[in-house]
Amino acid sequence: MIPATRKVFIKTYGCQMNVYDSARMADVLAREGYETVEAPEGADLIVLNTCHIREKAAEKVYSEVGRIRHLKEEAKREGRRVEIAVAGCVAQAEGEEIIRRAPAVDVVVGPQSYHRLGETLARARSGGAAVETEFDERKFDLLPAPPKKAAPSAFLTVQEGCDKFCTFCVVPYTRGGEFSRPAERIVAEAKRLLASGVREIMLLGQNVNAYHGEGPDGRDWSLARLVRELAELPELARIRYTTSHPRDMSDDLVAAHGDCEKLMPYLHLPVQSGSDRVLAAMNRRHGREEYFRLIDRLRQVRPDLALSGDFIVGFPGESEADFADTMDLVERVGYASAYSFKYSPRPGTPAASREQVPEEVKAERLARLQALLSKQQKRFNAATVGLRMEVLLERPGRRPGQLVGRSPFLQAVNVDAPGRSIGEIVPVVVESLGSNSLFAALAGDAPARLSA
Ligand code: SAH
Ligand code: SF4
Ligand code: F3S
Repeated sequence: MIPATRKVFIKTYGCQMNVYDSARMADVLAREGYETVEAPEGADLIVLNTCHIREKAAEKVYSEVGRIRHLKEEAKREGRRVEIAVAGCVAQAEGEEIIRRAPAVDVVVGPQSYHRLGETLARARSGGAAVETEFDERKFDLLPAPPKKAAPSAFLTVQEGCDKFCTFCVVPYTRGGEFSRPAERIVAEAKRLLASGVREIMLLGQNVNAYHGEGPDGRDWSLARLVRELAELPELARIRYTTSHPRDMSDDLVAAHGDCEKLMPYLHLPVQSGSDRVLAAMNRRHGREEYFRLIDRLRQVRPDLALSGDFIVGFPGESEADFADTMDLVERVGYASAYSFKYSPRPGTPAASREQVPEEVKAERLARLQALLSKQQKRFNAATVGLRMEVLLERPGRRPGQLVGRSPFLQAVNVDAPGRSIGEIVPVVVESLGSNSLFAALAGDAPARLSA
Protein backbone atom coordinates (compact mmCIF):
# COMPACT_ATOMS: atom_id res chain seq x y z
CA MET A 1 0.00 0.00 0.00
CA ILE A 2 1.24 3.52 -0.74
CA PRO A 3 0.72 6.23 1.89
CA ALA A 4 -1.06 9.46 0.88
CA THR A 5 1.89 11.84 1.36
CA ARG A 6 5.00 10.32 -0.11
CA LYS A 7 8.57 11.40 0.18
CA VAL A 8 11.11 11.46 -2.63
CA PHE A 9 14.88 11.74 -2.38
CA ILE A 10 16.68 12.71 -5.60
CA LYS A 11 20.44 12.26 -5.90
CA THR A 12 21.99 14.18 -8.78
CA TYR A 13 25.21 13.34 -10.61
CA GLY A 14 26.81 15.01 -13.64
CA CYS A 15 26.26 18.34 -15.31
CA GLN A 16 24.02 21.35 -14.64
CA MET A 17 21.43 19.95 -17.04
CA ASN A 18 20.94 17.08 -14.64
CA VAL A 19 20.53 19.59 -11.79
CA TYR A 20 17.83 21.32 -13.85
CA ASP A 21 16.21 17.98 -14.69
CA SER A 22 16.20 16.89 -11.04
CA ALA A 23 14.29 20.05 -10.14
CA ARG A 24 11.80 19.35 -12.93
CA MET A 25 11.37 15.75 -11.74
CA ALA A 26 10.65 17.10 -8.27
CA ASP A 27 7.97 19.34 -9.86
CA VAL A 28 6.40 16.41 -11.74
CA LEU A 29 6.42 14.30 -8.58
CA ALA A 30 4.96 17.14 -6.47
CA ARG A 31 1.85 16.84 -8.64
CA GLU A 32 1.71 13.17 -7.70
CA GLY A 33 1.76 14.11 -4.00
CA TYR A 34 5.49 13.70 -3.36
CA GLU A 35 7.42 15.97 -1.06
CA THR A 36 11.20 16.26 -1.64
CA VAL A 37 13.45 15.22 1.26
CA GLU A 38 17.19 15.64 1.81
CA ALA A 39 18.15 12.05 2.71
CA PRO A 40 17.30 8.59 1.39
CA GLU A 41 16.34 7.26 4.83
CA GLY A 42 12.55 7.38 5.21
CA ALA A 43 11.94 8.21 1.53
CA ASP A 44 9.27 6.26 -0.39
CA LEU A 45 10.99 6.91 -3.70
CA ILE A 46 14.72 7.24 -4.33
CA VAL A 47 15.75 8.67 -7.70
CA LEU A 48 19.34 8.41 -8.91
CA ASN A 49 19.79 11.00 -11.67
CA THR A 50 22.90 9.61 -13.26
CA CYS A 51 25.75 10.75 -15.53
CA HIS A 52 27.54 8.64 -18.12
CA ILE A 53 30.27 11.01 -19.24
CA ARG A 54 33.41 9.42 -17.75
CA GLU A 55 34.88 6.40 -15.99
CA LYS A 56 32.89 3.50 -14.73
CA ALA A 57 29.64 5.43 -14.66
CA ALA A 58 27.35 2.41 -14.91
CA GLU A 59 29.34 0.46 -12.28
CA LYS A 60 28.97 3.38 -9.86
CA VAL A 61 25.20 3.29 -10.30
CA TYR A 62 25.07 -0.45 -9.57
CA SER A 63 27.09 -0.02 -6.40
CA GLU A 64 24.90 2.92 -5.31
CA VAL A 65 21.80 0.76 -5.84
CA GLY A 66 23.56 -1.91 -3.78
CA ARG A 67 24.03 0.60 -0.96
CA ILE A 68 20.39 1.73 -0.87
CA ARG A 69 18.82 -1.70 -1.44
CA HIS A 70 18.72 -2.39 2.29
CA LEU A 71 16.39 0.62 2.79
CA LYS A 72 13.95 -1.08 0.45
CA GLU A 73 14.29 -4.42 2.24
CA GLU A 74 13.90 -2.90 5.72
CA ALA A 75 10.80 -1.00 4.60
CA LYS A 76 9.32 -4.19 3.15
CA ARG A 77 9.69 -5.89 6.52
CA GLU A 78 7.74 -2.98 8.04
CA GLY A 79 5.03 -3.34 5.39
CA ARG A 80 6.14 -0.18 3.55
CA ARG A 81 7.11 0.07 -0.11
CA VAL A 82 10.25 1.90 -1.19
CA GLU A 83 10.77 2.39 -4.91
CA ILE A 84 14.07 2.98 -6.67
CA ALA A 85 14.26 4.87 -9.97
CA VAL A 86 17.36 5.25 -12.14
CA ALA A 87 17.13 8.37 -14.31
CA GLY A 88 19.59 10.33 -16.45
CA CYS A 89 22.23 9.37 -18.96
CA VAL A 90 23.13 5.94 -17.57
CA ALA A 91 19.41 5.08 -17.68
CA GLN A 92 19.33 6.06 -21.35
CA ALA A 93 22.53 4.18 -22.19
CA GLU A 94 21.83 0.96 -20.26
CA GLY A 95 18.01 0.76 -20.39
CA GLU A 96 16.63 -2.69 -19.49
CA GLU A 97 20.09 -3.94 -18.59
CA ILE A 98 19.77 -1.98 -15.33
CA ILE A 99 16.72 -3.99 -14.23
CA ARG A 100 18.46 -7.24 -15.19
CA ARG A 101 21.60 -6.44 -13.21
CA ALA A 102 19.89 -4.64 -10.32
CA PRO A 103 16.45 -6.14 -9.72
CA ALA A 104 15.92 -3.74 -6.78
CA VAL A 105 15.37 -1.00 -9.38
CA ASP A 106 11.67 -0.41 -10.14
CA VAL A 107 11.90 2.23 -12.82
CA VAL A 108 14.43 3.27 -15.47
CA VAL A 109 13.67 6.62 -17.05
CA GLY A 110 15.76 8.42 -19.68
CA PRO A 111 16.39 12.19 -19.75
CA GLN A 112 13.71 12.79 -22.38
CA SER A 113 10.93 11.01 -20.52
CA TYR A 114 10.62 12.77 -17.16
CA HIS A 115 7.17 14.14 -17.91
CA ARG A 116 6.00 10.51 -17.92
CA LEU A 117 7.58 9.66 -14.56
CA GLY A 118 4.23 9.42 -12.73
CA GLU A 119 2.69 6.97 -15.19
CA THR A 120 5.93 4.98 -15.41
CA LEU A 121 5.88 4.53 -11.63
CA ALA A 122 2.22 3.49 -11.80
CA ARG A 123 3.08 0.96 -14.49
CA ALA A 124 5.85 -0.49 -12.31
CA ARG A 125 3.41 -0.85 -9.41
CA SER A 126 0.98 -2.88 -11.43
CA GLY A 127 3.23 -4.80 -13.76
CA GLY A 128 6.76 -5.01 -12.31
CA ALA A 129 9.75 -2.94 -13.37
CA ALA A 130 9.18 -0.33 -16.10
CA VAL A 131 11.63 1.20 -18.56
CA GLU A 132 10.97 4.50 -20.38
CA THR A 133 13.72 5.70 -22.70
CA GLU A 134 11.86 7.10 -25.72
CA PHE A 135 13.22 10.37 -27.08
CA ASP A 136 10.46 12.90 -26.75
CA GLU A 137 11.17 16.60 -27.01
CA ARG A 138 7.71 17.40 -25.69
CA LYS A 139 9.14 16.91 -22.24
CA PHE A 140 9.61 20.69 -21.86
CA ASP A 141 6.02 21.46 -22.86
CA LEU A 142 4.59 19.10 -20.31
CA LEU A 143 6.81 19.90 -17.38
CA PRO A 144 5.05 22.02 -14.75
CA ALA A 145 6.01 25.49 -13.50
CA PRO A 146 8.96 26.01 -11.17
CA PRO A 147 8.18 26.33 -7.44
CA LYS A 148 7.16 29.64 -5.86
CA LYS A 149 10.36 30.38 -3.96
CA ALA A 150 13.68 30.08 -5.73
CA ALA A 151 17.37 30.80 -5.12
CA PRO A 152 18.69 34.06 -6.66
CA SER A 153 20.53 32.22 -9.43
CA ALA A 154 18.66 29.67 -11.52
CA PHE A 155 19.34 27.25 -14.36
CA LEU A 156 17.14 27.29 -17.44
CA THR A 157 17.66 24.61 -20.10
CA VAL A 158 17.21 26.12 -23.58
CA GLN A 159 18.80 23.46 -25.74
CA GLU A 160 19.44 19.75 -25.39
CA GLY A 161 21.28 17.02 -27.16
CA CYS A 162 24.09 17.19 -29.67
CA ASP A 163 24.74 16.35 -33.32
CA LYS A 164 28.50 16.85 -33.23
CA PHE A 165 29.66 13.34 -32.36
CA CYS A 166 33.07 14.13 -30.93
CA THR A 167 34.75 10.73 -31.00
CA PHE A 168 35.14 10.53 -27.18
CA CYS A 169 31.65 11.61 -26.13
CA VAL A 170 28.44 9.80 -25.13
CA VAL A 171 26.16 12.83 -25.12
CA PRO A 172 24.75 12.41 -28.66
CA TYR A 173 23.76 8.87 -27.64
CA THR A 174 22.36 9.60 -24.18
CA ARG A 175 20.65 12.94 -24.85
CA GLY A 176 19.84 12.44 -28.50
CA GLY A 177 19.98 14.93 -31.39
CA GLU A 178 20.13 18.64 -30.96
CA PHE A 179 16.87 20.33 -30.03
CA SER A 180 16.22 23.98 -29.21
CA ARG A 181 13.18 25.09 -27.22
CA PRO A 182 11.00 27.83 -28.77
CA ALA A 183 12.11 31.30 -27.57
CA GLU A 184 8.67 32.26 -26.27
CA ARG A 185 8.59 29.35 -23.87
CA ILE A 186 12.02 30.21 -22.57
CA VAL A 187 11.05 33.83 -22.02
CA ALA A 188 7.88 32.69 -20.23
CA GLU A 189 9.89 30.38 -17.99
CA ALA A 190 12.37 33.19 -17.29
CA LYS A 191 9.49 35.48 -16.27
CA ARG A 192 8.20 32.85 -13.86
CA LEU A 193 11.66 32.50 -12.35
CA LEU A 194 11.96 36.27 -11.95
CA ALA A 195 8.55 36.42 -10.28
CA SER A 196 9.86 34.00 -7.66
CA GLY A 197 12.85 36.22 -6.85
CA VAL A 198 15.53 35.03 -9.30
CA ARG A 199 18.08 37.71 -10.34
CA GLU A 200 20.47 35.65 -12.47
CA ILE A 201 19.74 33.02 -15.11
CA MET A 202 22.23 30.50 -16.43
CA LEU A 203 21.03 29.30 -19.84
CA LEU A 204 21.90 25.63 -20.26
CA GLY A 205 22.55 23.31 -23.15
CA GLN A 206 25.11 20.65 -24.10
CA ASN A 207 25.76 22.95 -27.04
CA VAL A 208 24.07 26.04 -25.79
CA ASN A 209 25.57 28.42 -28.36
CA ALA A 210 24.21 26.24 -31.17
CA TYR A 211 20.77 27.36 -29.94
CA HIS A 212 18.41 28.01 -32.86
CA GLY A 213 14.93 27.95 -31.38
CA GLU A 214 11.86 29.27 -33.14
CA GLY A 215 11.22 32.92 -32.34
CA PRO A 216 7.78 34.54 -32.00
CA ASP A 217 8.37 36.00 -35.48
CA GLY A 218 8.49 32.47 -36.94
CA ARG A 219 12.24 32.74 -37.65
CA ASP A 220 15.02 30.84 -35.91
CA TRP A 221 16.54 32.86 -33.11
CA SER A 222 20.22 32.59 -32.25
CA LEU A 223 21.46 32.46 -28.67
CA ALA A 224 22.56 36.10 -28.99
CA ARG A 225 19.03 37.11 -30.06
CA LEU A 226 17.60 35.20 -27.10
CA VAL A 227 20.09 36.78 -24.68
CA ARG A 228 19.19 40.25 -25.95
CA GLU A 229 15.48 39.52 -25.52
CA LEU A 230 16.00 38.27 -21.97
CA ALA A 231 18.17 41.30 -21.18
CA GLU A 232 15.06 43.45 -21.75
CA LEU A 233 13.40 41.94 -18.68
CA PRO A 234 13.94 44.60 -16.00
CA GLU A 235 14.09 42.23 -13.00
CA LEU A 236 16.78 40.10 -14.63
CA ALA A 237 20.20 41.40 -13.58
CA ARG A 238 22.61 38.79 -14.89
CA ILE A 239 22.72 36.33 -17.78
CA ARG A 240 25.19 33.48 -18.25
CA TYR A 241 25.23 30.47 -20.53
CA THR A 242 27.01 27.13 -20.68
CA THR A 243 28.39 24.93 -22.36
CA SER A 244 29.64 26.39 -25.60
CA HIS A 245 31.41 24.85 -28.55
CA PRO A 246 34.07 27.06 -30.23
CA ARG A 247 32.58 26.27 -33.65
CA ASP A 248 29.23 27.79 -32.69
CA MET A 249 30.57 31.09 -31.34
CA SER A 250 28.83 33.30 -33.90
CA ASP A 251 29.64 36.96 -34.63
CA ASP A 252 26.43 38.18 -33.01
CA LEU A 253 27.22 36.26 -29.81
CA VAL A 254 30.76 37.66 -29.71
CA ALA A 255 29.27 41.13 -30.21
CA ALA A 256 26.80 40.57 -27.37
CA HIS A 257 29.73 40.08 -25.00
CA GLY A 258 30.84 43.59 -25.87
CA ASP A 259 27.57 45.48 -25.63
CA CYS A 260 25.10 43.51 -23.52
CA GLU A 261 25.80 44.68 -19.96
CA LYS A 262 23.73 41.92 -18.39
CA LEU A 263 25.79 39.20 -20.06
CA MET A 264 28.42 38.39 -17.44
CA PRO A 265 32.13 38.55 -18.40
CA TYR A 266 32.75 34.84 -17.96
CA LEU A 267 32.72 32.22 -20.69
CA HIS A 268 33.13 28.45 -20.50
CA LEU A 269 34.59 27.56 -23.89
CA PRO A 270 36.02 24.01 -23.87
CA VAL A 271 38.81 23.27 -26.34
CA GLN A 272 39.77 19.75 -25.07
CA SER A 273 43.25 19.78 -26.64
CA GLY A 274 45.81 22.21 -28.01
CA SER A 275 47.03 19.84 -30.72
CA ASP A 276 45.63 20.09 -34.23
CA ARG A 277 46.24 16.38 -34.75
CA VAL A 278 44.29 15.44 -31.63
CA LEU A 279 41.54 17.97 -32.34
CA ALA A 280 41.05 16.34 -35.75
CA ALA A 281 41.03 12.84 -34.22
CA MET A 282 38.45 14.06 -31.72
CA ASN A 283 36.29 15.39 -34.59
CA ARG A 284 36.18 18.83 -32.97
CA ARG A 285 36.02 20.50 -36.39
CA HIS A 286 38.38 23.37 -35.62
CA GLY A 287 42.11 23.88 -35.06
CA ARG A 288 44.15 25.70 -32.42
CA GLU A 289 44.64 28.84 -34.53
CA GLU A 290 40.86 29.23 -34.92
CA TYR A 291 40.52 28.98 -31.16
CA PHE A 292 43.18 31.67 -30.63
CA ARG A 293 41.48 33.93 -33.17
CA LEU A 294 38.15 33.45 -31.43
CA ILE A 295 39.64 34.33 -28.04
CA ASP A 296 41.21 37.45 -29.59
CA ARG A 297 37.86 38.56 -31.02
CA LEU A 298 36.16 38.04 -27.66
CA ARG A 299 38.86 39.93 -25.78
CA GLN A 300 38.71 42.77 -28.28
CA VAL A 301 35.08 43.40 -27.36
CA ARG A 302 35.39 42.48 -23.69
CA PRO A 303 39.00 42.80 -22.46
CA ASP A 304 38.20 41.57 -18.94
CA LEU A 305 36.42 38.38 -20.12
CA ALA A 306 37.29 35.48 -17.80
CA LEU A 307 37.72 32.22 -19.67
CA SER A 308 37.12 28.71 -18.52
CA GLY A 309 37.58 25.43 -20.38
CA ASP A 310 37.57 21.65 -20.40
CA PHE A 311 40.60 19.53 -21.31
CA ILE A 312 41.06 15.85 -22.01
CA VAL A 313 44.56 14.37 -21.64
CA GLY A 314 45.65 11.00 -22.96
CA PHE A 315 43.22 10.84 -25.86
CA PRO A 316 44.15 7.82 -28.05
CA GLY A 317 47.22 8.68 -30.09
CA GLU A 318 48.18 11.75 -28.00
CA SER A 319 51.98 12.04 -28.12
CA GLU A 320 54.20 14.04 -25.81
CA ALA A 321 54.41 16.69 -28.54
CA ASP A 322 50.60 16.85 -28.77
CA PHE A 323 50.40 17.29 -25.02
CA ALA A 324 53.05 20.02 -25.18
CA ASP A 325 50.71 21.84 -27.63
CA THR A 326 47.95 21.66 -25.01
CA MET A 327 50.26 23.13 -22.35
CA ASP A 328 51.27 25.83 -24.80
CA LEU A 329 47.65 26.66 -25.61
CA VAL A 330 46.84 26.98 -21.92
CA GLU A 331 49.88 29.28 -21.42
CA ARG A 332 48.80 31.47 -24.31
CA VAL A 333 45.11 31.73 -23.41
CA GLY A 334 45.31 32.06 -19.61
CA TYR A 335 42.27 30.54 -17.89
CA ALA A 336 40.41 31.86 -14.86
CA SER A 337 39.31 28.29 -14.11
CA ALA A 338 39.17 24.99 -15.96
CA TYR A 339 38.22 21.34 -15.72
CA SER A 340 40.60 18.64 -16.90
CA PHE A 341 40.13 14.92 -17.20
CA LYS A 342 41.96 11.77 -18.20
CA TYR A 343 40.46 10.37 -21.37
CA SER A 344 37.96 7.68 -20.43
CA PRO A 345 36.91 5.20 -23.13
CA ARG A 346 33.12 5.23 -23.42
CA PRO A 347 31.56 2.05 -24.80
CA GLY A 348 30.14 2.55 -28.28
CA THR A 349 32.09 5.74 -29.09
CA PRO A 350 34.67 5.65 -31.93
CA ALA A 351 37.75 6.51 -29.84
CA ALA A 352 37.09 3.70 -27.36
CA SER A 353 38.31 1.08 -29.82
CA ARG A 354 41.52 2.96 -30.77
CA GLU A 355 44.90 2.22 -29.25
CA GLN A 356 44.92 3.66 -25.74
CA VAL A 357 47.51 5.80 -23.96
CA PRO A 358 48.83 4.00 -20.84
CA GLU A 359 47.19 4.97 -17.57
CA GLU A 360 50.39 6.22 -15.93
CA VAL A 361 51.12 8.51 -18.89
CA LYS A 362 47.61 9.96 -18.62
CA ALA A 363 48.02 10.47 -14.87
CA GLU A 364 51.37 12.19 -15.24
CA ARG A 365 50.11 14.54 -17.99
CA LEU A 366 46.99 15.35 -16.02
CA ALA A 367 49.09 16.30 -12.99
CA ARG A 368 51.23 18.66 -15.10
CA LEU A 369 48.19 20.26 -16.74
CA GLN A 370 46.35 20.66 -13.46
CA ALA A 371 49.36 22.29 -11.83
CA LEU A 372 49.43 24.87 -14.63
CA LEU A 373 45.67 25.46 -14.56
CA SER A 374 45.65 25.86 -10.80
CA LYS A 375 48.53 28.37 -11.02
CA GLN A 376 46.51 30.33 -13.57
CA GLN A 377 43.40 30.25 -11.42
CA LYS A 378 45.34 31.61 -8.43
CA ARG A 379 46.86 34.30 -10.62
CA PHE A 380 43.44 35.30 -11.91
CA ASN A 381 41.94 35.46 -8.42
CA ALA A 382 44.93 37.34 -7.03
CA ALA A 383 44.53 39.95 -9.77
CA THR A 384 41.04 40.74 -8.47
CA VAL A 385 42.26 41.64 -4.94
CA GLY A 386 41.79 45.37 -4.41
CA LEU A 387 39.19 45.62 -7.18
CA ARG A 388 35.64 46.85 -6.83
CA MET A 389 33.00 44.59 -8.29
CA GLU A 390 29.38 43.61 -7.84
CA VAL A 391 28.39 40.45 -6.02
CA LEU A 392 25.03 38.69 -6.18
CA LEU A 393 24.43 37.45 -2.63
CA GLU A 394 23.27 33.84 -2.81
CA ARG A 395 23.53 32.13 0.59
CA PRO A 396 24.50 32.62 4.23
CA GLY A 397 28.21 32.53 5.06
CA ARG A 398 29.99 30.83 7.94
CA ARG A 399 30.22 33.88 10.20
CA PRO A 400 27.30 36.00 11.45
CA GLY A 401 26.65 38.91 9.08
CA GLN A 402 28.55 37.16 6.29
CA LEU A 403 26.89 36.27 2.98
CA VAL A 404 28.38 34.34 0.09
CA GLY A 405 27.78 35.30 -3.50
CA ARG A 406 29.29 35.31 -6.97
CA SER A 407 31.39 37.93 -8.70
CA PRO A 408 30.71 38.75 -12.37
CA PHE A 409 33.58 36.31 -13.09
CA LEU A 410 31.79 33.49 -11.24
CA GLN A 411 34.21 33.58 -8.30
CA ALA A 412 32.72 32.69 -4.89
CA VAL A 413 32.96 35.78 -2.69
CA ASN A 414 32.47 35.95 1.10
CA VAL A 415 31.11 39.39 1.95
CA ASP A 416 30.73 40.95 5.39
CA ALA A 417 27.31 42.37 4.71
CA PRO A 418 25.31 42.83 7.92
CA GLY A 419 21.76 43.95 7.20
CA ARG A 420 21.95 42.89 3.55
CA SER A 421 19.84 40.04 2.15
CA ILE A 422 20.18 37.11 -0.17
CA GLY A 423 19.18 38.16 -3.69
CA GLU A 424 20.73 41.66 -3.42
CA ILE A 425 23.52 42.73 -5.75
CA VAL A 426 26.03 44.69 -3.72
CA PRO A 427 29.19 46.60 -4.65
CA VAL A 428 32.24 45.24 -2.82
CA VAL A 429 35.99 45.67 -2.67
CA VAL A 430 37.91 42.38 -2.74
CA GLU A 431 40.27 42.28 0.24
CA SER A 432 41.95 38.89 0.25
CA LEU A 433 42.14 35.39 -1.21
CA GLY A 434 40.87 32.21 0.40
CA SER A 435 41.71 28.75 -0.92
CA ASN A 436 38.65 28.55 -3.19
CA SER A 437 37.02 31.90 -2.69
CA LEU A 438 37.56 35.63 -2.15
CA PHE A 439 36.90 37.80 0.92
CA ALA A 440 35.37 41.21 0.39
CA ALA A 441 33.88 44.21 2.18
CA LEU A 442 30.92 46.32 1.11
CA ALA A 443 31.81 49.38 -0.98
CA GLY A 444 30.11 52.33 -2.63
CA ASP A 445 28.70 52.03 -6.16
CA ALA A 446 31.17 50.07 -8.22
CA PRO A 447 31.77 49.25 -11.86
CA ALA A 448 31.83 45.54 -12.76
CA ARG A 449 34.75 45.64 -15.19
CA LEU A 450 38.24 44.40 -14.39
CA SER A 451 39.96 46.62 -16.92
CA ALA A 452 38.91 48.71 -19.88
N1 SAH B 1 29.47 20.00 -25.14
C1 SAH B 1 30.64 20.27 -24.45
C2 SAH B 1 31.09 19.15 -23.52
C3 SAH B 1 30.11 18.38 -22.73
S1 SAH B 1 30.79 17.03 -21.81
C4 SAH B 1 31.75 20.53 -25.47
O1 SAH B 1 31.63 20.20 -26.61
O2 SAH B 1 32.78 21.04 -25.10
C5 SAH B 1 31.73 17.85 -20.57
C6 SAH B 1 33.20 17.57 -20.60
O3 SAH B 1 33.47 16.24 -20.22
C7 SAH B 1 33.82 17.70 -21.97
O4 SAH B 1 34.10 19.02 -22.29
C8 SAH B 1 35.06 16.85 -21.87
O5 SAH B 1 36.16 17.61 -21.44
C9 SAH B 1 34.69 15.83 -20.81
N2 SAH B 1 34.52 14.50 -21.42
C10 SAH B 1 33.54 14.12 -22.25
N3 SAH B 1 33.74 12.82 -22.63
C11 SAH B 1 34.88 12.40 -22.03
C12 SAH B 1 35.61 11.19 -22.04
N4 SAH B 1 35.22 10.16 -22.75
N5 SAH B 1 36.74 11.13 -21.29
C13 SAH B 1 37.15 12.19 -20.57
N6 SAH B 1 36.51 13.35 -20.53
C14 SAH B 1 35.38 13.49 -21.25
FE1 SF4 C 1 29.96 15.77 -26.65
FE2 SF4 C 1 30.21 18.42 -26.64
FE3 SF4 C 1 31.24 16.97 -28.62
FE4 SF4 C 1 28.61 17.20 -28.40
S1 SF4 C 1 30.07 18.85 -28.85
S2 SF4 C 1 29.72 15.32 -28.85
S3 SF4 C 1 28.37 17.25 -26.18
S4 SF4 C 1 31.86 16.97 -26.45
FE1 F3S D 1 26.62 13.48 -17.71
FE2 F3S D 1 24.54 13.29 -19.26
FE3 F3S D 1 25.33 15.66 -18.36
S1 F3S D 1 26.38 12.10 -19.42
S2 F3S D 1 27.51 15.40 -18.18
S3 F3S D 1 24.56 14.00 -17.14
S4 F3S D 1 24.52 15.18 -20.36
